Amino acid sequence: MKTIFSGIQPSGTLTIGNYLGALKHFVPMQDEYDSFFCIVDQHAITVPQDRLELRKNIKSLAAIYLAAGIDPSKATLFIQSEVPAHAQLGWMMQCVSYIGELERMTQFKDKSEGKEGVSASLLTYPPLMAADILLYGTDVVPVGEDQKQHIELTRDLAQRFNTKYNDIFTIPTPEIPKVGARIMSLAEPTKKMSKSSPNAKSYISLLDDEKTVLKKMKSAVTDSDGEIRFDRENKPGVSNLLTIYSLFTDEPIDQLVAKYEGVGYGPFKEDVAKAVSSVLTPLQERYYELLNSEELDNILDTGAEKAQARASKMLKKAENAMGLGRKRR
Ligand code: TYM
Repeated sequence: MKTIFSGIQPSGTLTIGNYLGALKHFVPMQDEYDSFFCIVDQHAITVPQDRLELRKNIKSLAAIYLAAGIDPSKATLFIQSEVPAHAQLGWMMQCVSYIGELERMTQFKDKSEGKEGVSASLLTYPPLMAADILLYGTDVVPVGEDQKQHIELTRDLAQRFNTKYNDIFTIPTPEIPKVGARIMSLAEPTKKMSKSSPNAKSYISLLDDEKTVLKKMKSAVTDSDGEIRFDRENKPGVSNLLTIYSLFTDEPIDQLVAKYEGVGYGPFKEDVAKAVSSVLTPLQERYYELLNSEELDNILDTGAEKAQARASKMLKKAENAMGLGRKRR
């Protein structure tokens, strides 16, 4: 059975962008793959986090994974910092990374440009991400578009390590959805929807109630030509809403365009909001049941044990390949 690995940062409540670009796809994949899903808290601290807020977000993300359909009897769900092999291999992957290639990462440039006091970890974020993936012999990494460059770097680092030391790492392939890999901001539809945006109107959180979804949808930026059709370049706002609508209802975009011919933006937006809430409402019910349950802690404990057992084998191989410590029998 092939292996998948993916991670999400516990840095604020997930948006429908995270859901449509990543989480939604994890659910059917857990039936076909040996699946590892991670709450990457060590990645989250590359930018300052409030201690109590981070703790809350970690649990919240775990409950979201489960509420969205991750089944702990099929997949391993765990917290990155509870499996020390990630940081250990992360260090070793830093040792095979070049500063130049890390500086070229778009995410690093976006997060550091014009800022003072940029943490070293923001630069060395991708080698830790490579470690996350490589520890499990991962074949496939389901992610949204913005993570593609990091997976490509992971492939380069794995190949470099295999050539230089020993051929131990599987070279992973990114799996990026054809539609929904880049859900755009509702306020600025030429920019990516992001959970860390200061403007709450720019995203829909997975925990937004029906009223909030409707309000945000109504304020979504569109255009003045009044026609509902898909044209990313000239009509980024409407095209984004069509994408969201299509993914939440499984109705093809062409069909939606035909259905809404001659209809105004107002009623269209109301229907998109309804489609979104019809998925979010049951997800939220399950989420609130799970959030402070013992079940959630048990799942995370078991997940960490399973992940550590698997990861420690690859860590040992990597340490042997590089000559760290003593070779034990
Ligand atoms: P993160 O936490 O920013 O996002 C989690 C997942 O959501 C996807 N995503 C989107 N998809 C579509 N439209 C959007 N607007 C949108 N915004 C985010 C992301 O592509 C991602 O799949 N570095 C990663 C976390 C990570 C990871 C890993 C992922 C750490 N280690 C190993 C895969 C494998 C990140 O910051 O994702």
